[in-house]
Amino acid sequence: MNTAQNSMQDDDTGTFDMESYRAEFPILSREINGCPLVYLDSAASSQLPNTVINAVSEYQKTKHANVHRGVHTLSHLATDAYEGARDSIVDFIGAASRSEIILTSGTTESINLVAQSFARPILGSGDKIVITQLEHHSNIVPWQLVCEQTGAELHVIPINERGEVSLDDVVAALDDNVRLLAVAYVSNALGSILPIKEIVKEAHDRSIPVLVDGAQAVPHIPVDVQDLDCDFFAFSGHKMFAPTGSGVLYGKENILEKMPPYKGGGDMILEVHFEGTTYNELPYKFEAGTPNISSVIGLGESIAFLTAIGMRNVYDHENRVLDYLTSQLSTLDEMRLIGTAAKKASVQSFMLADIHPHDLGTILDHQGVAIRTGHHCAMPVMDYFAVPGTARASLALYNNENDVDRMIEALVKAREVFRS
Ligand code: ALA
Repeated sequence: MNTAQNSMQDDDTGTFDMESYRAEFPILSREINGCPLVYLDSAASSQLPNTVINAVSEYQKTKHANVHRGVHTLSHLATDAYEGARDSIVDFIGAASRSEIILTSGTTESINLVAQSFARPILGSGDKIVITQLEHHSNIVPWQLVCEQTGAELHVIPINERGEVSLDDVVAALDDNVRLLAVAYVSNALGSILPIKEIVKEAHDRSIPVLVDGAQAVPHIPVDVQDLDCDFFAFSGHKMFAPTGSGVLYGKENILEKMPPYKGGGDMILEVHFEGTTYNELPYKFEAGTPNISSVIGLGESIAFLTAIGMRNVYDHENRVLDYLTSQLSTLDEMRLIGTAAKKASVQSFMLADIHPHDLGTILDHQGVAIRTGHHCAMPVMDYFAVPGTARASLALYNNENDVDRMIEALVKAREVFRS
């Protein structure tokens, strides 16, 4: 057991001691512009706990070699650590087997893989891919590309003024020409949680496969892919306390088996001859080239960290802080909250008076408060709300009410600067 696991348990009152987990993130004790850092940009990229930093450093110092390729001891150690991370992912998201876990560079590569390897061969003129209006660009552009390549059409399910997607609108979009539904579990720009299980059921009732973009879900809510019954599920390591450069594509084994490789190269083959190549078995068929070994090892460790806390505890804690954040923002004059869905996780977007979000972000940064401003890689969401961008505070398990208070104070000061 690591330090985090030993020292942080429910106390006698049943209250979970999230503060001791926060202490595991060294960057959170630094100062920015002379002020203690308040980090409210975890939807863009989350910070790393000591256990992850140490695991990556230990691997680099004592185990580094290529994976699946050597008979020497270091290569075995690297392979064991890398494949151990895959096993952790299987358990963490409830996959049926390790064949279903493709290690990628992140959500973007995972979705592009499905677009090119699953969708492209089956699409033609008259076929449709269906997405929603709240998707991240990485769940829009790969589908635009494959539609251009095949003559298929992209159909977009609308959102409402709260940033919700209604099940009725999903059902209305699912006609006989739809070949795939690709939908976010949690909106990175608005925080809306979509009714994924119900959406998957409606799609499957019509024999339509479903890809879920889970990048903004996995670090914040418990996920069980077999319970959701989705066909594909994509997410990134760097939004769940791992280093950048690792991600996952979960796919049902019987579907992955039928798909051609996405990229060619080393490790995805059994035999290569000029007469022809035999591809490797799952999951390696989709993992060409030397992977990001250290980041994947970090991802395995971040899963151990989250598992020690418990995803239900993470969700409950973040939900409390999100409620507090939303209620405190609402006390400010001329505050426009963007994204007010009934079910939300970890994100609140907003506009304050007529202050441009980038100006707001800069003034907050001068006070040590990091938020993201702009379109959040979700321009169609900005189009819907008719704004050039928003300010967005996004939470992770290490945030608390004090962070919210600091951001509110910084917003009040920003307001004064613009009034004077
Ligand atoms: N997708 C990332 C975000 O939401 C970059 O900020």
